[in-house]
Amino acid sequence: MKNENPIGFFDSGIGGITIWKEFDKILPHENTIYLADSRNAPYGQKTPEEIIFLSEKNTEYLLNRNSKMVVVACNTATTNAIDYLREKYKVPFIGIEPAIKPAALNSKTGKIGVLATKGTLTSKLFHKAVKSYNNVEIIDQIGFGLVPLIEAGKIDSEEIKSLLKEYLSVMVQQDIDYLVLGCTHYPFLTDLIKTMIPDHIQIIDSGIPVAKHGKLLLERCGLLNSQKTTGIKEFYINADETVLKSLISNKENYIIQRMNF
Ligand code: SIN
Repeated sequence: MKNENPIGFFDSGIGGITIWKEFDKILPHENTIYLADSRNAPYGQKTPEEIIFLSEKNTEYLLNRNSKMVVVACNTATTNAIDYLREKYKVPFIGIEPAIKPAALNSKTGKIGVLATKGTLTSKLFHKAVKSYNNVEIIDQIGFGLVPLIEAGKIDSEEIKSLLKEYLSVMVQQDIDYLVLGCTHYPFLTDLIKTMIPDHIQIIDSGIPVAKHGKLLLERCGLLNSQKTTGIKEFYINADETVLKSLISNKENYIIQRMNF
């Protein structure tokens, strides 16, 4: 494995860009390939078998492009498929689990909210995580309908506001003091969510800690790219690329393309 090989990322669509951005901030010299499987979004409504099938397909593509590490930049794919992927392939995998730990450690009301997809909230991995934090009550809420609206770029739309109002009020009424965003698409809604919940409720997402963990893992494996120039950043999407393009500034070292995969 060569250090200049890319880091591969995949997501059910554009949500994993929130994770990719955090990696890019601390690892600008790395070459990266991001796959947005938007044609198959949302993963959150699919069966575990379907999610594993799609995750395997994405991983195969990234490994055929010699990725030295794969970031499963999707909570639903992580909670349903990462054990399978780690068993099948040799490269290191980084997954995104809902960041319950910091919320559980710091909650004063003893109640934390987790907003995620059905696929994440019903997964074995999520239930295992919940059991290990028995000092807090976890109020979970499925974000039905949010991912398709985000994929369509309707981030500030009345439709999304009305869904969020319904989902957040259930958790706010139960006195949560932390809100964990358990889907990589949801950080695009952080500003909107802030206007809809009381100030004392802290919003947590996984981007920064996951990127730090990824950097540490590359260091430990001796796989950091030591090139002095900024890396080549490739983005491939199997649906319309307009929204993806609006989320990442188009720089000289970026390749953004619609492609069938
Ligand atoms: C989805 O495709 O339903 C959302 C992906 C995620 O859980 O991050």
